[in-house]
Formats: sequence, structure tokens, C-alpha cells
Amino acid sequence: MFAKKPVHMQVNTPAAEHSLKRVLKPVDLVLLGIGAIVGTGVFVLSGIAAGLHSGNALPISFVLAGIVCLFAALCYAEFSTMIPVAGSAYTYCYTALGEIWAWIIGWDLILEYGLAISAVAIGWSGYFTVLLSSAGIVLPPSLSNPMGVAGGIVNLPAILIVLALTALLVAGTKKSSKFNAVIVAIKLAVILLFICLGFVAIQPSNWDPLMPPAGWLGIFSGAAIVFFAFIGFDAVVTAAEEVENPQKNLPLGIIGSLAVCMVLYIIVAVVLTGILPFAELAKPAAISAPIAYALNAIGYSWGAALVSIGALCGMTSVLLVMIFGQSRILFSMSRDGLFPRVFSEIHPVTHTPAKVTIFIGIITALVAGIFPLTIVAELVNMGTLVAFSIVALGVIILRYQQPTLARPFRCPLVPVVPILCIGTCGFLIFHLTTLAHEMFVIWLGVGLFIYFIYGMKNSGNRRSSTAKDLEVISSHINPETPFPNVTEGIQEEPGT
Ligand code: ALA
Repeated sequence: MFAKKPVHMQVNTPAAEHSLKRVLKPVDLVLLGIGAIVGTGVFVLSGIAAGLHSGNALPISFVLAGIVCLFAALCYAEFSTMIPVAGSAYTYCYTALGEIWAWIIGWDLILEYGLAISAVAIGWSGYFTVLLSSAGIVLPPSLSNPMGVAGGIVNLPAILIVLALTALLVAGTKKSSKFNAVIVAIKLAVILLFICLGFVAIQPSNWDPLMPPAGWLGIFSGAAIVFFAFIGFDAVVTAAEEVENPQKNLPLGIIGSLAVCMVLYIIVAVVLTGILPFAELAKPAAISAPIAYALNAIGYSWGAALVSIGALCGMTSVLLVMIFGQSRILFSMSRDGLFPRVFSEIHPVTHTPAKVTIFIGIITALVAGIFPLTIVAELVNMGTLVAFSIVALGVIILRYQQPTLARPFRCPLVPVVPILCIGTCGFLIFHLTTLAHEMFVIWLGVGLFIYFIYGMKNSGNRRSSTAKDLEVISSHINPETPFPNVTEGIQEEPGT
């Protein structure tokens, strides 16, 4: 249960038929990050947070949520450059904390990514339905809402968008990252359009009062909600095994994309609260599309239409990266024997983990088709905050357990930064609802049950060696070798 997988095994063990091709360049990676980050959070949740919680202090909520993510990003960057293989926090925990912790975090990430895919698909469907109706095509409510919501039976657009993007990812990573780059350009353009049009319409009197009615409590609650807007930078890490020169490019990708998004969000928040009195953002007409609503309110209906299209693009790229990330986590867990091996097979032609991607596509499409968007976003935040905390803990533990191990990127001020990460994540978790806490505990219980009846018996780590042997091998790693040949090693394996 507590056996650890040594770092050198993480980077060298994948057999040829279970290895991914390194095709992603730094620009692809930053775009992958922005593609995963900018979406429902800024286009939808910013208005809800301002209208109901943060008021004119919305930029402060964004700053607080961004700082939590920055601490986590520094921890992620250290781990990802030390262990540049697919699987994200799951892989790191296998090395630092042991198998049971790795399973817990992997199971937690399945919750985070799976529900995020479904949640964003439901949001996508809402925008899509509105755009269709403005073009004169009205979808019947039975096909655009889930059961129990406004006469709905199934949310068909949500199902179709997930399945379409799944097909794209199965077709090949490189093709998908090019598609992602185009979409990211579009969504950044519409955000800049909003900032430019809104900037000249700012009325400083709207910023008065600066503090929301609930004071700092409102700001913290708003931060716990807009935290969703930053989720996704960790998805960059899940692509580690497909990145060229991961030691240098992964930190660039993670911290670069997070920094760009933080600056954009703060400006959007300043402009949004400057255009309208914040209470207007809580109105039903503004809730689902606050950015477009604000532009309409200052007379730019064409701008509102363009922003709506951009928001659709934004959510599309978030979906793309989330499905990508989810498939790589399951891929890694299957490769380690904790899930059936079929999930880590690589398609011989497309070189992508096709079976696991299709599996995830079908499950998340079904969830998106039949469940309403209620507690989902909070559960996503809960799962992510727990994952961040465990990664930060892993950084501290590995620094003490294997201090000489080469770290191409070192998180500054360890253990202060990881402790700040754990503390601030815990603080945001505290500001989520009790229902989210309870549902998370149930999910964890189900996961542990599956581990004890399947994963524990089938773990490849346990089969290949005893925990004691692994520790001995681990202690023989040359600390001066920062795995410079990892990339070549994995690429050349098919020929050996
Ligand atoms: N950060 C992503 C979004 O806002 C999950 O949609």
C-alpha cells in the first residue's frame, strides 16, 4: 500500500507499446495551458462571483485565487521537471508518498477532470443553444436540457461536443494542439475586444463602494468560486510525456500560461465592475453570460455577439485540454496496473491512447447529457484543491527523502511555499459548501473500495519488485544526472 515508485522507474519503464510521442513544443504548451484555463470561469462565473459575493472587489478575489494557484504551480513545476512523464500529480505522489496516496490523488483527479469536462460541456450547450436561437433555429427544451430542468430529457449539444472533441484527440495529439492554438487565439481576441470596448465606458462611480456587503467573507467566497477560472494549468503537466525538452519547457508552460491568465482576469474584473453597478450582474438575464450582458448594456450588441462566439470557442478549448488530461491520468494509472491494462494501449497509427480517450469521452458525455449544472463546479474546485495540497506535501517529503536528486526547476523557499499552498488551499476548501465536502468524502470512499478489490492486487509496482528493493534501487540513482536522456530514451525505445 505504501510502496513508492522510484523516479528512475517513472521516467524509464514505459514499454514501447505504452509510450507516447514527444511532439509538443513550448508554444504548444503555453497555448495548451491557456486553452485549459480561460473558459467558463471568466466568461460565466466572474459575473456570479461579483453579483453575489465579491462585488466591486472581484479583482481581489481573482488575485487571491491566482496566488493559491501560483503556489501550486511552483510545486507542480518542480515535480514535473523531475518526473517528466504522463500522469500529473498522480505520478508525483507515487514517487513521493506511495501507492495508496497515488491512488487517492488519481481518483481525485478523475473527479476533477471528469466533472469539469461535463460542467463545461453543459455551459457550452447553453451558449450554443442561445446562438442557434438568435440564428432562428430553436432547439426543443427536451433536447437541450437534462431531465428535471425546464422540460428537458437529454442535453444533446453537450453530448455531441464531448464526442466530437474526443474524436479529434483520438486522431492525434499534434493535430489537436494545432486546433487548440487557433481556438485560443480567438478567445484571447474576444477578451481583448471586451477590455477595449469596456475600458472607454468605465464609470469610476460604479466602483464605489469597493468592499462587498459581506466584507472580506464575500471576497473569500468569491475567490472560492473564481478559483474555477484558474483550473487547467495543471493539465499542462499531464502532457509531460509528450513535451520536447520537458525540464525546460514544462515550467515555462505552467507558470507562463498562469501568469498570462491572471493578468487578463484582473483587467476583465476591473472593467466588468467599472461598466455596471455590480448588483446588476446578479440579475437572471446576466447570470449565464455576464460579459456579453455588460457589452449589451453599454450599446455594443455586435460586440456581445462576438464575445458569445469567443466564449464558445473558449469553452471548446477547455474541454479539449480537460479530455486530454483526463485520458493521460487514466493512462498512467492503467500502465501501473491500478486500472485494467487496456486503458494504456497506444493506437498503432495515431500514436494516441485511443481506447482510454474514447472511454472517457463516452462517460463524460453521458454525465453532461443527463445531469444539471448545480454542485458540479464546487465539486471540481474541491477535488482540485485537495490535489494541489497533496502535490505540495509531496514536494516537501521528496526534498527531505531524496535531497540530492536533480531538480531542473526548484520551487523557491521550500518548505514555506508548499506550506502556504496547503494552507491557502485549505482556506478555500473551508469556504466551499458542506454538500461539496460530503460528496467528496463519498467519492473517496468508493475509490478506496475499488483500490482494495482491484488496484492493490494488480499493481505493477508490487509485481515487479518489493517496496524494499525499489527503495534500494532508488538510492543508487546518480544525483547529478537530471535525466537528460529521458526524452531520447523513451523515443528510441520502439526501435530497441
Ligand atoms: N478554468 C477553466 C474554466 O474556466 C476550467 O472553464
